Amino acid sequence: MTSGGDAPGMNAAIRSVVRTCAFHEIECVGIYRGYEGMIEGDFKAMNARSVKGIINKGGTVLKSARSKTFRTAEGRQQAYEKLTEANIDALVTIGGDGTFTGAMIFNKEFDFPVIGIPGTIDNDIYGTSHTLGYDTALNTVVDAIDKIRDTASSHNRLFFVEVMGRDVGHIALNVGVGAGAEEILIPEEDLGLDRLLESLRRSKQSGKSSSIVVVAEGDKIGKNVFELKDYVDENMSEYEVRVSVLGHMQRGGSPSCFDRVLASRMGVKAVESLLEGKTNYMVGLISDKIELTPLDKAVKGKSEINMELLRVSDIMST
Ligand code: F6P
Repeated sequence: MTSGGDAPGMNAAIRSVVRTCAFHEIECVGIYRGYEGMIEGDFKAMNARSVKGIINKGGTVLKSARSKTFRTAEGRQQAYEKLTEANIDALVTIGGDGTFTGAMIFNKEFDFPVIGIPGTIDNDIYGTSHTLGYDTALNTVVDAIDKIRDTASSHNRLFFVEVMGRDVGHIALNVGVGAGAEEILIPEEDLGLDRLLESLRRSKQSGKSSSIVVVAEGDKIGKNVFELKDYVDENMSEYEVRVSVLGHMQRGGSPSCFDRVLASRMGVKAVESLLEGKTNYMVGLISDKIELTPLDKAVKGKSEINMELLRVSDIMST
């Protein structure tokens, strides 16, 4: 099952889970539309051939949803009945913290074996250095910002580029460094509007004719990119400012090789962990090994960003 925001690599993970089941001669059933489909019994038997030609596809062939009904005890009871009717006795859930919170509650209430695979472009899950889709999203965003830079420099403009990341600045920080942004605004650090203006002034004085400021959607300054533009317009007439909100294009596209390999490894580990009787864990990449982390730790733990990158960015934007 895939649930929550989709991410490139989810299909590669579905393929891996299905083929690992086939390898071990276990029946495998795909659940459509996340917990919504579980509640409705929207299931389809899958075999090794059902997942042909999807390793390179973005999105998720099983579709995804954010289910409100599964947050209710009645919804979860109905889901349990549907799973039992279909003789489903273990679950691999691919998604983010919302998906894992649901899985944990379900496991507690019905003692239902569950293993999570982290799939979200935000990379905001504890217990894995990389979530599925994160690497692909970084490459997609760097590519988009490279293009924005072409037009920014042609017109000597300042661009505020908003990238995804509600609670963490992994995407903003890495693409900021990778695409050579002059400033990076993230949820983990309050740069402050004064420092932003000061930095933009310095940038201008140092002879730069165009600038890119990458802003995570959950940035701590608390202003969205349009408000930031207004603020700079009012306080720095020397800049001509434009805004670009990259939005959901960041979630699409063919997964990178890294995400395909990671998904394949995680799917194998998820199924084989269930076969070993393990439950209530998430599989994750730690020091290049696929390890298990208890789901509650994965949900409650904080996925730390690499603050050293902020310093690198400061030095690079000199
Ligand atoms: O969690 C992944 C994510 O893409 C976030 O970065 C973003 O804030 C959110 O999903 C958008 O959700 P939706 O597609 O439901 O608008």
